[in-house]
Amino acid sequence: MLGNFSYHNPTKLYFGEESLGFLKQELANYGKNVLVVYGGGSIKKNGLYQEIMEILKGCGKNVAEVSGVMPNPTADKLREGVRIARENNSDFILAVGGGSVCDYSKAVSVSVNCDDDPWDKYYIRFEEPQCDIIPVGCVLTMAGTGSEMNGGAVITNHEQHLKIGHVFGDNVMPRFSILNPKYTMTLPVYQMVAGIYDIMNHICEQYFSGQDDNTSDYISEGLMKGLIHASRIAVKDPQDYEARSNIMWTATWALNTLISRGKSTDWMVHMLGQAVGAYTDATHGMTLAAVSLPYYRYIMPYGVKKFARFATQVWDIPSQGKTDEQLAQQGLDAMENWMKELGLVMKISELGATEEMIEGIADATIILNGGYKVLDRDEVVKILKASM
Ligand code: NZQ
Ligand code: ZN
Repeated sequence: MLGNFSYHNPTKLYFGEESLGFLKQELANYGKNVLVVYGGGSIKKNGLYQEIMEILKGCGKNVAEVSGVMPNPTADKLREGVRIARENNSDFILAVGGGSVCDYSKAVSVSVNCDDDPWDKYYIRFEEPQCDIIPVGCVLTMAGTGSEMNGGAVITNHEQHLKIGHVFGDNVMPRFSILNPKYTMTLPVYQMVAGIYDIMNHICEQYFSGQDDNTSDYISEGLMKGLIHASRIAVKDPQDYEARSNIMWTATWALNTLISRGKSTDWMVHMLGQAVGAYTDATHGMTLAAVSLPYYRYIMPYGVKKFARFATQVWDIPSQGKTDEQLAQQGLDAMENWMKELGLVMKISELGATEEMIEGIADATIILNGGYKVLDRDEVVKILKASM
């Protein structure tokens, strides 16, 4: 641990089948006007909406709603939510859904008491909130993003062909999150496996950087092993509660600021994936899956020791008699086989990306410098083309 850091995470978690029972006591800490935010209707189909409304009524809350928050929530939808929150003098935002709903709620929370346009302020100028922030609580229905215990809020602007994440500070993280693995059981398998790969890649983004001996990397290896094991059970039987609960808990720890402590981090797969998402509106985890192997195979020579360690520690590949390069290749081959086993999308062309889009996607790709190789634009194009 060579880095200097502080560590604090303010989100209180309630985990397990009984966790919704704690909503009432949490709501007592906030004002009367509650804004319930949810997506396209899955919570109405599975009964969660009705359960939550009853709890809110029982607590004597005035309830307003923002419904129809789409996967990859847009800047226009954000402006609508800000307007509804203002009209209803919302004291508290309850996000009920996946990462999109939770991210969106955080973006609303920092924008209600601010006169500037939220897209320009937080996503173009990258300013921090100076206004009063409306507290957010979350009832999570999809495991993947870690949004339930972090400050991330990703917003898409289709007119500008940009999908950008702003990672806000501790004061924007959900005050509490309710994690009941049962709620994730109604997810379509496509979304479940996309979420699993999102988790894996969050860990990889924080693992593939640096040369030092770092506790964070050992934690990451344990998280990856547990995730791979549980994912193999869950694809065979999506109703396996034990596997789904392990996946949900891993998602939270994969991106709640713990495993990045003391390290630089990469995040280039996410930058590539988000640019693909800006053009195709594809499912987040699938955009990551499609660009990952072309990216990792390209940068592997620059971080070969870590990729060799990934092979032996995460994929249990015996090291005897092999060079680091051979091990590194075998580690990535093992990841590829696992990804195919899960049924992940391996090409951006399968997500709607076309040859004509490549230059635009490359322009929309933010290049970061925390990984083993700082890409230039030509290399971005090369990686995108390798995923066609
Ligand atoms: O809208 P509904 O009807 O609820 O359907 C959703 C949506 O269609 C459905 N779903 C969720 N829970 C369900 C369910 N369907 C049936 N049963 C359930 N229990 O699943 C679909 C996808 O949901 P979404 O919230 O979009 O998925 P996810 O959790 O993957 O969130 C994706 C968003 O999070 C951002 C992504 O970029 C994307 O915009 N991210 C946020 C991060 C963060 N806060 O740190 C980091 C991530 O890297 C990511 O970028
Ligand atoms: Zn992600």
